[in-house]
Amino acid sequence: MSDSIVRDPTLAPFGRLKIDWVRDRMPVLNAVRDELKAGGALRGRRVGLALHVEAKTAHLCLCLREAGAEVAIAGCNPLSTQDDVAAALAEAGVRMFGWRGATGEEYFDFIEKVAETRPELIIDDGGDLVTLLHTKRRDLLPGVLGGTEETTTGVHRLRAMERDGALEFPMVAVNNARCKFLFDNRYGTGQSTWDGIMRTTNLVVAGKAVVVLGYGWCGKGVAMRARGLGARVIVCEVDPVAANEALMDGHDVMPSVEAAEVGDIFVTVTGCAGVLRREHFERMKSGACLANAGHFDVEISKPDLAALSVSRRVVRPNVEEFVLADGRKLYLLGEGRLVNLAAGDGHPAEIMDLSFALQALALRYVAEHGRELGPRVVELPAAADEKVARLRLRALGVEIDSLSPEQARYLESWQV
Ligand code: ADE
Repeated sequence: MSDSIVRDPTLAPFGRLKIDWVRDRMPVLNAVRDELKAGGALRGRRVGLALHVEAKTAHLCLCLREAGAEVAIAGCNPLSTQDDVAAALAEAGVRMFGWRGATGEEYFDFIEKVAETRPELIIDDGGDLVTLLHTKRRDLLPGVLGGTEETTTGVHRLRAMERDGALEFPMVAVNNARCKFLFDNRYGTGQSTWDGIMRTTNLVVAGKAVVVLGYGWCGKGVAMRARGLGARVIVCEVDPVAANEALMDGHDVMPSVEAAEVGDIFVTVTGCAGVLRREHFERMKSGACLANAGHFDVEISKPDLAALSVSRRVVRPNVEEFVLADGRKLYLLGEGRLVNLAAGDGHPAEIMDLSFALQALALRYVAEHGRELGPRVVELPAAADEKVARLRLRALGVEIDSLSPEQARYLESWQV
């Protein structure tokens, strides 16, 4: 496509191969695509996306195009765009803006380019496209019918906008659907975070002390898979209920400054800023690896790490060594950005199949009902969850029971 901006268009064949690999492993999204094609709700609609540009996302874009939409996309993280996939998307006629390693300025310029395609419908991951439309490019707001948000952090930001009366169009919180957070946040983040850490460090996890900061659905997945790999898991939390959950799941729980002294690998997954900071770095063992699995690169304080260090250098792709004044060495993975995408390929295809099938259904919901929904954060109707779950069971050839009429009546009644 003429106005796409990608690093290297000649990488397209490699990107195409990656997309081919995931396409056959995303049967739920493929079934939803066929329904959208037949129904026509997205035909002729302009859709703008800010998502992690890797193969599964590319397949989503191509499905939306097959359903008749005009699609424009930028990355939602400076390190998660895969240049070969971006080239393949541009070659396929999707308007693609971005490259891996974008500077802060380039990153927002690319998102603005998507906004300038005047999308009627948007898909956001983390809230940067929505924020841009509500700040710098308010002139483009009237053309937006509504959109969908992928992630916990994005929904958090949307709720803050809604609370302040700032949100100007409906946004469906896809993250809150059961077929999203139960699988993507837990099993997706659980697997892909360790995939990213292991492939980028080539170090063993078994026998290590892994500190997981944050015990939401993502943190639960990261902790569960760390234990499966043979680590001793320590959870740090500020929510007393979540801390009790972690204890009953069999993990140790302690304050983060205490965990700092014993951890070998730290994974932040809180959605909050300044989670690992000076007071933690001052106590950590030499050799500790620091990874982030939350949306933004604010959880591990890079300014504190830099201020404490006498030297720093990149020692492997995606691994930076910080030498502190007393000689201890700390290793920051993926620049403190989402380690599963900065140093890996993101969640497995079968997981993104569910998340992106929900996204496609949510987009149709906004296309059909956007005007009635009003400017607020909207939950995806439960029917979409049920549909995605049933499609997946069908694709796997798994059958389940259904209630008899008597059982259904029993569950509806209150008399003995
Ligand atoms: N691939 C595409 N979007 C993703 C996300 N939000 N998390 C992990 N992998 C992804």
